[in-house]
Amino acid sequence: MFSLFSRKKEPQAIDYFPITLDIHSHILPGIDDGSPDLETSIRLIKGLMEMGVTKSIATPHIISDLYRNNPTTINNALSLLRNEIKAQGLNFEVNAAAEYMLDSSFFELLHKKEPILTLKDNIILTEFSYASMPEDPAKHSFEIIMAGYSPILAHPERYPYYYKNYSMYHRFVELGFMLQLNLLSLTGYYGKEAVKASHYMLKNELVSFVGTDMHHFRHLDMLTDNKSRLEFQKHLSHRSWNNFLND
Ligand SMILES: [Fe+2]
Repeated sequence: MFSLFSRKKEPQAIDYFPITLDIHSHILPGIDDGSPDLETSIRLIKGLMEMGVTKSIATPHIISDLYRNNPTTINNALSLLRNEIKAQGLNFEVNAAAEYMLDSSFFELLHKKEPILTLKDNIILTEFSYASMPEDPAKHSFEIIMAGYSPILAHPERYPYYYKNYSMYHRFVELGFMLQLNLLSLTGYYGKEAVKASHYMLKNELVSFVGTDMHHFRHLDMLTDNKSRLEFQKHLSHRSWNNFLND
């Protein structure tokens, strides 16, 4: 006998991925805690391509006491990767900027008017330390903006010292930071508090950009997981993402 309850629905294949342009990743080979070599970089790119990503702006860390990258180290790694992409005939575009830790070395670069790598025009990607709260973010944004740059703050949902103070997310936007959410923050990869903070920022329309922040295969696996894609679809499909930074 026909019964509504006995009909099992086939699980639906999920193909939703929210971006074609990734603006935050560590796919350049051998210069930070991301991809260690060219082979890994190419495998990560092939994974991105399977998700529908056509272009990445790679953003290696620049952290004074850990990853002393500069335009030369970054552009050398970019050239290596571009050559290999070409050699393999992959239809994937890669550019490079950096993820600048807002430490004293960064402000020294600004004061000396050294070249700063931008995502597009005057837009730069910045991050705070996970371990210690910046003492004066207003001073940071003021100095960056006065030097002619426009800052994006990477993964605000990952700084534990703001989990009891969501008003700071509004404050950053007021200060001129554009906020970039990590896709994996929606999946629980970085913990429950990061999920909650992400939902809060999305609900309050504080998020301007999303990115993979992909470092390695564990990130790739999690990004391609169907459960993750359901979360992306649920929370991000109401608008398009990152187009503003496309050429
Ligand atoms: Fe990053």
